[in-house]
Parts: sequence; structure tokens; C-alpha cells
Amino acid sequence: MLVFQGSFEEGEMKLLQGFCWIFTAALAMRVSAEPNLQQTFSTWVNANGELRLPTNLQRGWLHLGSSALMAADGTRIESIHSVYTQADAADYYRKHGKFADGTVLIKEIRFANMNDLVTGALASADAVDVWFMMVKDTRDRFKGKRDWGKSWGWALFGSNDPTTNVSAGYEQECLGCHVPAKRSDYVYTKLYPGLRPGP
Ligand code: HEC
Repeated sequence: MLVFQGSFEEGEMKLLQGFCWIFTAALAMRVSAEPNLQQTFSTWVNANGELRLPTNLQRGWLHLGSSALMAADGTRIESIHSVYTQADAADYYRKHGKFADGTVLIKEIRFANMNDLVTGALASADAVDVWFMMVKDTRDRFKGKRDWGKSWGWALFGSNDPTTNVSAGYEQECLGCHVPAKRSDYVYTKLYPGLRPGP
């Protein structure tokens, strides 16, 4: 800063300071707008243990990875599954190899379109079908509640009504399919590049 002092008029210096201030304020707002782990149990879960779906995944949520599901007849990609979490949750996982309390995992399933492009047959994501949501609870806050077990909260939301959890309970609707991933805390961690240390 000292190096430049001679070449700036006082007015310009004030202007520069003003810009710095605006930049800092904008940065602070951006940071506070991002979901963090401490907010989970006041924002996405209510006192009764009911889960609420974040609807702004494109803003501030971290994309852990996407997978494409082949249709049973093997001729096309049927749906694209993208998984999101908080940036802090991914950092914690990469550092400690386990999920932090308050981690939110959202799997967004979109219907796929097949496109014939110059690059080849390409599947692209279209409208949302459903969202699956898991919330890490290391403290057993909601023991015995329908949507809570194995230290996770579990929910399902349809695109026709993203405000209503339509799961009838995790034991009935989720657990059976997630038991194969039991050794990685019921999460299919191997599928997500965003949980690995490198690129
Ligand atoms: C038919 C089996 C099946 C059922 C039922 C099922 N899941 Fe999954 N789930 C999977 C598989 C397999 C993956 C990873 C591959 C993929 O995206 O299909 C997955 C991935 C997820 C993910 C992304 C993180 C991860 O574990 O990889 C979330 C979140 C999730 N499921 C939540 C739920 C919830 C909540 C329910 C119940 C409401 C549920 N799932 C029911 C099979 C299932």
C-alpha cells in the first residue's frame, strides 16, 4: 500500500477505501448466505425432528458428484443423480474421514434427455423427479422418531410438492437399500469425487 501512496490523490484514496469496504461487506454477506453445519438443526430440522428441504441448491451448496442411471433395457440413461452438501461438511469429511454433526446430504434425481451431439450420445439432466435428504445427528436428538435412526435423519420430497416429506419412515423406505453401504456410515461415499482429497 505504501508504495502506491505517492501516486494516489486523496480523493482517489477515499474511493479505493470505499470499494474495499463494499467488497468486504459483500464477502461477509456471501459467507453468511452459505449453509453451515451450526445452522442445520435450526434451519432444516424443527424441534419435532421434521426435515425441511433446502430449495436453493444452486446457491452455496457444494456439488459432491453426479451419477447416471441406465434404463433397464440398457439403451439410454434414465436419470441423473446429483448429490449436494455444505462446503464445511465436505471439508470435515476430507479431513476426518467421517461425517460431522449437522451434515446435510441431498440427492436430487433429474430425468435425463439423450442428445445426439458432435461429441456423441450425451445424457443431460432435465426436470427434477425427487429429492432424497439425509441429516447427520451424532447426538441422537430425535430417538424413536419415525424419520431418525442410525444417527441420520431421512426424508423424501417429490417435485410436485418440495415442502412435504412423503417418506413413511426410514426403516420402511430407506434403510434396506442403504445397508450395503453400512461400513461407510450408510452413505455410498465411493461415488462422490467431492469427498476425496485430490482432484
Ligand atoms: C432402491 C434402493 C434405495 C432406496 C429405497 C433408497 N435409497 Fe438412497 N440411495 C440408494 C443408492 C444405490 C444410492 C447411491 C446411488 C444412486 O444415486 O442411486 C443412494 C443415495 C442416496 C443419497 C446420497 C448419499 C448416499 O448415500 O450415497 C441420499 C441422501 C439418499 N440415498 C437418501 C435416501 C433416503 C432418505 C431414502 C428413503 C426415503 C432412500 N435414500 C431410499 C438406494 C436407495
